[in-house]
Amino acid sequence: MPEFLPAPGHVTVIVIDPALIPEESTTACLSAAEQDQAARFHFEKDARHWRACRTALRRILGAALELDPAYLSFHLGTHGKPLLPPPRHGLHFNLSHCRDLALVALCQTGPVGIDLEPADRAPTLIGCESAFCHPDEIARFPTSSEERAARLLDLWTSKESLLKALGTGLSLSPESVSLATGNASDHPLLRDFTIHRLDHPLLRDHIAHLAAPQEILRIGIFEFPG
Ligand SMILES: CC(C)(COP(=O)(O)OP(=O)(O)OC[C@H]1O[C@@H](n2cnc3c(N)ncnc32)[C@H](O)[C@@H]1OP(=O)(O)O)[C@@H](O)C(=O)NCCC(=O)NCCS
Repeated sequence: MPEFLPAPGHVTVIVIDPALIPEESTTACLSAAEQDQAARFHFEKDARHWRACRTALRRILGAALELDPAYLSFHLGTHGKPLLPPPRHGLHFNLSHCRDLALVALCQTGPVGIDLEPADRAPTLIGCESAFCHPDEIARFPTSSEERAARLLDLWTSKESLLKALGTGLSLSPESVSLATGNASDHPLLRDFTIHRLDHPLLRDHIAHLAAPQEILRIGIFEFPG
């Protein structure tokens, strides 16, 4: 079985430390369009971070498909979700990155979405409830501000993972989706997905959620570079 390729019914999640991706390797791996995209960042540190994450994504997909990472091409879905074009479209993937870590999810069973945030972002979400929470969720919030902040970050990353699995991202209003009773099983577009909270020592100080097809039986979490 090629490295990182999940068996049917499984999801592989790869944890990436972008600081460990050598800058030289990004030049050999990325397309001219990707180099141009990186050059549009205002700060060089952001460009370097983006190049590192995209290089890791290419190397992971290349390993799973047993292809040279530089030869991979991507299509964009209607709302900008990167996808593999035919004949490799059966390998679904999604990427999330924050300041010091990135995650890639791979699945052969169906679309996946992943979202990652630093845990210390939680208090900054207090006061933003109505921007992304459904009234049913707000009605059930804990009263202690610490628990409320933790619940808000859980909801934010859960919903982003779901909307990224669907491919709409935030063009589908997150406040229109209720996770008050667990999964969004009552939403017609989202009932095929289950949300999983990712717990692993590599994810310390972060909150991460994965939305994956309901029939997924196992999630394996690995480190890159291993
Ligand atoms: C996808 C989206 C939720 C990203 O959220 P984020 O927390 O800033 O970023 P994350 O690190 O979690 O994810 C970014 C990655 O998701 C992937 N992605 C981009 N658009 C996506 C989409 N519509 N669905 C799923 N994944 C998407 C890309 O791989 C992207 O990586 P890149 O920046 O290196 O290209 C957000 O950009 C979005 O909603 N985009 C689509 C709709 C849109 O453009 N709306 C305008 C703003 S309301």
